[in-house]
Amino acid sequence: MGPVLRAALLAGLFACSVALAQPLADKGRYLAAAADCVACHTAENGRPFAGGRPFQTPFGTLYSTNITPDKKTGIGNFSLGDFRATMHRGKGPHGNLYPAMPYTSYYLVRDDDIEALYRYFMQLPPVENRPPANRLVFPANLRFGLGFWNWLYFDPDRPLPDGKGRSAQWRRGNYLVNALGHCGECHTPRNFAQAMQFDRRFAGNVLEGWDAVDIRPQSLRRQGWDREQLRQLLTSGSSERGTLFGEMFRVMQHSLRHLSDEDIDAVITFLLDESEALPGKRGDVRQATDRYGGGRADYVAYCAGCHGRAGAGITLAFAPGMDDNAAIRALNPHNAIAVILRGLPAQRLDRTRARAGMPSFHRELDDARIAELVNFMRGAWGSGGAGVTAEDVARIRHRLDKEGYLGSNHGN
Ligand code: HEC
Ligand code: HEC
Ligand code: HEC
Repeated sequence: MGPVLRAALLAGLFACSVALAQPLADKGRYLAAAADCVACHTAENGRPFAGGRPFQTPFGTLYSTNITPDKKTGIGNFSLGDFRATMHRGKGPHGNLYPAMPYTSYYLVRDDDIEALYRYFMQLPPVENRPPANRLVFPANLRFGLGFWNWLYFDPDRPLPDGKGRSAQWRRGNYLVNALGHCGECHTPRNFAQAMQFDRRFAGNVLEGWDAVDIRPQSLRRQGWDREQLRQLLTSGSSERGTLFGEMFRVMQHSLRHLSDEDIDAVITFLLDESEALPGKRGDVRQATDRYGGGRADYVAYCAGCHGRAGAGITLAFAPGMDDNAAIRALNPHNAIAVILRGLPAQRLDRTRARAGMPSFHRELDDARIAELVNFMRGAWGSGGAGVTAEDVARIRHRLDKEGYLGSNHGN
């Protein structure tokens, strides 16, 4: 074969493999959105995927790594096998990874999807950026100790929840929620060693001072969620049943709203399972006003201007209604109390959709008044959860204060 012919053949082969690689990288981009890699691997105001976001753990501060294909500071030297080992086993070239990297969910990602993710990351422009060194206390700073943690708590043979007899849509949702979306990393309670308690999958967990609520089917139904409201919530961040805030707003912003309609349908089918709508056991405004007159008065004075006198909200783009709001209907009053204490920051989804925040009331309202206010709202518009006491509020206030969430006077 002459050199010219050989060069032409090689060029042809090369073009061919590039043409094949591109659809795989496109698939990888979609999967990276579904798995929300950007949320953790991007520092505030940093370049996407260049790492450096801090994670506060009970043992000190840990920083995410640069996962652009830079050879010096990123994953440019990773083979497909290296990449798979980080995703499936939590093993990096320098030793075991901390489970802040959710390999405890990603081990369920299929091999063909791992390869598409790898191709996507490898064709990104490399960014040179070395994240700060971790500041962890002994012995948590020793990576080999994590081998012991894995041995105790990480079971890479644990399969996805059983999909036998379920529809293809349910099974797709199962995969999106449990493997790629790693929803359980926030919504599943953890034990003292920070490992997920799989026997209580999705039962709710407090995280950065918010309750990552119970998202099991019965609980979602109890809060009034149906398919349409969930679709609006997960794709836009607000619905007539309430809004997303804290980390969950970012999950929607970076991940869920980029999913196809079919995949959002699958997530919802999995979340609601085959549960039926519960009869809307609405509260009773008159009774709640009689019982919690002080709460009613504080509502009118402090809240009605934004949430409406009758709790119906004003416009959804401005502030959500309280009447039938999921946070008010929830059994656990944590978020209703925490929102009043700490407020919510303004949020911007894109150029046209932004929401003003909510002021914090931790100075104006003491524990007893907040308890009475929450009891009024739960009685009037909730579905009759148990009464909240001043001690309940005091406990949440104390914890939020200790963790530094009550600092500013406007949303944090
Ligand atoms: C919840 C936060 C979080 C998410 C989501 C996340 N990561 Fe990570 N990742 C981390 C942290 C933190 C580390 C560093 C762990 C350590 O140093 O032990 C890490 C480490 C890594 C590493 C090891 C890099 C190295 O140099 O050793 C790779 C590769 C990686 N992540 C890829 C991904 C990919 C791909 C995704 C999406 C599919 C993803 N991560 C999603 C937090 C996250
Ligand atoms: C200046 C307007 C404003 C005032 C005053 C205000 N809120 Fe809000 N509130 C908002 C906005 C806007 C949101 C949604 C913010 C978001 O999700 O980003 C919100 C969210 C909430 C939520 C969370 C539910 C959900 O669906 O997001 C609760 C509960 C709540 N407010 C209760 C109250 C109570 C009780 C008061 C009075 C003590 C009050 N608010 C006063 C604007 C206000
Ligand atoms: C990084 C942590 C985190 C991850 C990952 C996460 N969530 Fe959340 N989620 C939260 C927090 C915190 C809240 C409470 C704040 C709120 O309601 O917006 C929440 C609230 C929700 C709610 C609202 C329930 C209600 O009644 O108000 C739904 C539904 C939900 N999450 C579904 C999901 C699904 C599905 C996934 C996976 C695709 C997921 N979450 C992943 C932290 C997380």
